[in-house]
Amino acid sequence: MYVCLCHAITDTQIKQAVDQGDTSLADLKKRLGVGSQCGKCTRMASEIIQARLDVT
Ligand code: FES
Repeated sequence: MYVCLCHAITDTQIKQAVDQGDTSLADLKKRLGVGSQCGKCTRMASEIIQARLDVT
């Protein structure tokens, strides 16, 4: 599922980024560009980060 349409980033890519050490939206922005354009994806991206951190 696409989370960030501006950069064509999926939830799977975000989960992989968290597995590689990202813990915040700022980290994701640096690695994947998520949230750096229109910003509409930031809320969902944060939720995915949080859910992934809770699991691991
Ligand atoms: Fe992510 Fe626009 S959808 S910056």
